[in-house]
Amino acid sequence: MALPFYIYAQLPSTPGTKATVEASPAAIAGSKENPEAVARGSALFKDKCGSCHGMTAKGTNKAPDLVRSLLVLDDEKGLLIAPVIRNGHKNMPSFGLTEPQIADIVAWMHAQTYAADHRNTYLFLDALTGDPKKGEAYFNGAGGCNKCHSAAGDLKGIGAKFDAHTLQGRWLQPRSGRGATSKSPVTALITLPDGKKVEGVLERYDDFTVSVRDAAGEYHSYNRNNGVPKVEVKDPVRIHTDMLRKYTDSDIHNVTAYLASLK
Ligand code: HEC
Ligand code: HEC
Repeated sequence: MALPFYIYAQLPSTPGTKATVEASPAAIAGSKENPEAVARGSALFKDKCGSCHGMTAKGTNKAPDLVRSLLVLDDEKGLLIAPVIRNGHKNMPSFGLTEPQIADIVAWMHAQTYAADHRNTYLFLDALTGDPKKGEAYFNGAGGCNKCHSAAGDLKGIGAKFDAHTLQGRWLQPRSGRGATSKSPVTALITLPDGKKVEGVLERYDDFTVSVRDAAGEYHSYNRNNGVPKVEVKDPVRIHTDMLRKYTDSDIHNVTAYLASLK
């Protein structure tokens, strides 16, 4: 197998910091920053800044996320960031760093921002770098996947059915192009003004109309006016979309590696 071109280096997690990923060599190349400057900046950042901003600059309760900071995103060649580092800021000391050191930190921050912007690209190209044991623990623990799935049941053999990228798409976004599921359609329960209830697969739903096809294959369509009739939409894979914001990059890689091992 070809080595994945994009690799996220894993940093040991440090108490008080929440982020665990640092820009990969490919992301650094993409950011067009000098890799040696980025490496020096990374070490300096961990030493001087990580305790407050987190080791990967994603923020802690002591100082803000710099990867999402507009000041950092808008920065070009350190014009905005360097003065903050040089002079300190309201609740942030200045560090007596030299100008080359400041430039290195700026280079590293640009690489981090670039990597964050291209997160999905790297995640997909990087699908099999996770740890299946940790993925299993997450599946049965923090991830709560076992509430609806089981490795010996519905997901048995899933690792043999799909290549890693397709597999990752199927669990990250079951309704997107990569995953598209038809087994678990979105349904709606419609309560008509006279109390009668109609339930079926949702075919159309907007402010003016709701249409479903019921279990017998019959089509029902109603005009809507000020929220009447009442419509309760049920999407069995909605949980996947909700969870998308909660996974860390490592959770994603670990779970995919675990699913890929279910052969
Ligand atoms: C003692 C904790 C602490 C340390 C150490 C620290 N910072 Fe900060 N930093 C802050 C706080 C708090 C803020 C929020 C603004 C303020 O109160 O100054 C901040 C703000 C910033 C900002 C501005 C972000 C924005 O969106 O306006 C930048 C850039 C920044 N820090 C970079 C760094 C760098 C680079 C280092 C290391 C050389 C560093 N900080 C070290 C606490 C810290
Ligand atoms: C509340 C229930 C629920 C939870 C929790 C849940 N899922 Fe799902 N998942 C579903 C449903 C429903 C589907 C769609 C099944 C279908 O239509 O084939 C699905 C689809 C999938 C698929 C695609 C299966 C296939 O054959 O393509 C995978 C893989 C998957 N989930 C993994 C996970 C993982 C990993 C987690 C935990 C991070 C998780 N799910 C959490 C309900 C859930």
